Amino acid sequence: MTQPRKILVTSALPYANGPIHLGHLVEYIQTDIWTRFQRLRGNTCYYVCADDAHGTPIMLRARQDGISPEQLIATMQQEHEADFADFNIGFDNYYSTHSEENKAFASSIYLKLRDGGHISTRTIKQAYDPEANMFLPDRFIKGSCPKCNSPDQYGDNCEVCGATYAPTELKNPVSAVSGVTPIEKDSEQYFFKLSDFGDMLKQWLHAGHVQSEIANKLSEWLDEGLQDWDISRNAPYWGFEIPDAPGKYFYVWMDAPMGYMASFKNYCDKTGLDFDEYWNANSKTELYHFIGKDIARFHTLFWPAVLTAAELRTPTAVYCHGFLTVNGQKMSKSRGTFIKARTYLNQLSPEYLRYYYAAKLADGVDDIDLNLDDFMLRVNSDLVGKVVNIASRCAGFISRKFDGKLSSALANEALHQELVNAGDSIAEHFENRCYSKAVREIMALADKANVYIDEHKPWALAKEADRDADVHAICTQGLNMFRVLMTYLKPVLPATAEKSEAFLNTEFNWATLATPLLDHSINKFKPLMTRIEKTQLDVITETSRETMETSTPKTGALADDPVAAEIGFDDFAKVDLRIAKIIKAEHVDGADKLLQLTLDLDGETRNVFAGIKSAYAPEDLEGKLTVMVANLAPRKMRFGISEGMVLAAGPGGKDLFVLHPDEGAKAGMRIK
Ligand code: 2FM
Ligand code: ZN
Repeated sequence: MTQPRKILVTSALPYANGPIHLGHLVEYIQTDIWTRFQRLRGNTCYYVCADDAHGTPIMLRARQDGISPEQLIATMQQEHEADFADFNIGFDNYYSTHSEENKAFASSIYLKLRDGGHISTRTIKQAYDPEANMFLPDRFIKGSCPKCNSPDQYGDNCEVCGATYAPTELKNPVSAVSGVTPIEKDSEQYFFKLSDFGDMLKQWLHAGHVQSEIANKLSEWLDEGLQDWDISRNAPYWGFEIPDAPGKYFYVWMDAPMGYMASFKNYCDKTGLDFDEYWNANSKTELYHFIGKDIARFHTLFWPAVLTAAELRTPTAVYCHGFLTVNGQKMSKSRGTFIKARTYLNQLSPEYLRYYYAAKLADGVDDIDLNLDDFMLRVNSDLVGKVVNIASRCAGFISRKFDGKLSSALANEALHQELVNAGDSIAEHFENRCYSKAVREIMALADKANVYIDEHKPWALAKEADRDADVHAICTQGLNMFRVLMTYLKPVLPATAEKSEAFLNTEFNWATLATPLLDHSINKFKPLMTRIEKTQLDVITETSRETMETSTPKTGALADDPVAAEIGFDDFAKVDLRIAKIIKAEHVDGADKLLQLTLDLDGETRNVFAGIKSAYAPEDLEGKLTVMVANLAPRKMRFGISEGMVLAAGPGGKDLFVLHPDEGAKAGMRIK
């Protein structure tokens, strides 16, 4: 018998400044299925993750919210952990890159790099905000694209024409932090000499550690020539200070992957596991990183080189996946398809999404699409209509007629064996991350099981005299086939598998798959899964749409959505802005962010829902003036119809301004 493997698995660490959404979940579900599969096969497999807690966006977000970065990352981590737990993502440990363990790794690995001669310093020019007194990352500089002149583009690439450039090339650049024009300032930076590892990387990329698409990309980067990598940032920066360089901090991408090690170290210290066995240069264990294709460069170029320089093991493989589209398009707040994990969970079981993603996932880097109609049809037909149906068609007879005990022989051993025999191929698909193929095979077997039951009709036989033994054997056959199918689906549907285990009074695992349950007492059947209703999906998209409309406005650089395409003056002129008097303001039952406003537009009354509860109590508003979009088409929201929109400005939270200061203004007055 082959020895059980010892495996350590990670998923990318989510940034601690935003909620988990269905896009993130592609990766966590993909990884979770793989780790559960490994354990089901009898391997030792640990799965660790953490919040990625450092960097400028987190520093500025905390500042904007008026809290410390420590407070922000603590709250975010709590939210993330709750979302993951409720999606049944079974991490062995969930930690933070802002931890003592990670600080120790960042510093010891850096010193190893430095002492090995792989760190150089040189002075470079960088954009600096003289008002905010800070150097600006590319994403915090905005201006017009040097190629197509589109305004409001980020400092590294143009969302309109796709050009990439240096921030110094932007026309009319401004700091997204303070709005002033950045200046150029010299500063000394610390670089990791990636080119010292050119040969190592060349070898690594051809040794089967990455998918072919990624190997091709890596080859291109190697051919372009390896540039030194700037691993330092100047204060103020939220991160770890570099040990021998006061005022300089590790760039977030330097200590982020070390967070994998830190989380595992924290786990080892709690459980007595041997950390070094998994990370020593000569480790015999396996290490896998699951990531999105957008961060392949950090994981397949910098990270293996840093690990080699630090005399640690390199990953067995880095597995990249594609992005998520919803209904064929990029997730969008205005379409209500930018769906947060929590919004989904408030309506639906995580098992449905886990199944749908599994049914779509392959081993490549192609994007996957969550088509909401298809999602509903597929879950209802495959899981409820096929798999769970097998159990519900057979269970009643066993408990009513046979005292909850299965018969002593199967009715059709060959058919049961056919299902068992498919296990090798299904296991291979799971191992290779071709979950869609595994699911297809499992569903083909479920079809066979259903055909068997349809043909043998236990419900009809049960009415005939002297056919009890047949009914007993047929239903025992059905439930044993259900057991095989649920064993295969256990990595995908852990909660349903658990309920099924309780029902069949046994634990599912690969080793016992071939031995049917005979003469075995089972428990009373309880419904395992219900159908998805269209209304549940509607609530999810409506709530997601509302979240956008009512979310607090953010400054350009911190907004999640890129600045929209340029509009002409004619488009602008279509927007009818009016002064309106707030005649009534009320709380909305069940809404966290909304207030319901009754507005007077020179005699005409409008009902508007506004997401301004964080900044105003109703009594602050009544009798005051505000500016509204008067010609916005009425929109049906969960709480009623909104007939227009109130304009708000400011960084958000308590600082959100909707009141018009001009006491002399009149309701109905047009703003030009
Ligand atoms: O892209 C991201 O969301 C990063 N926070 C992923 C980090 S993965 C690892 F390297 F830490
Ligand atoms: Zn452009």
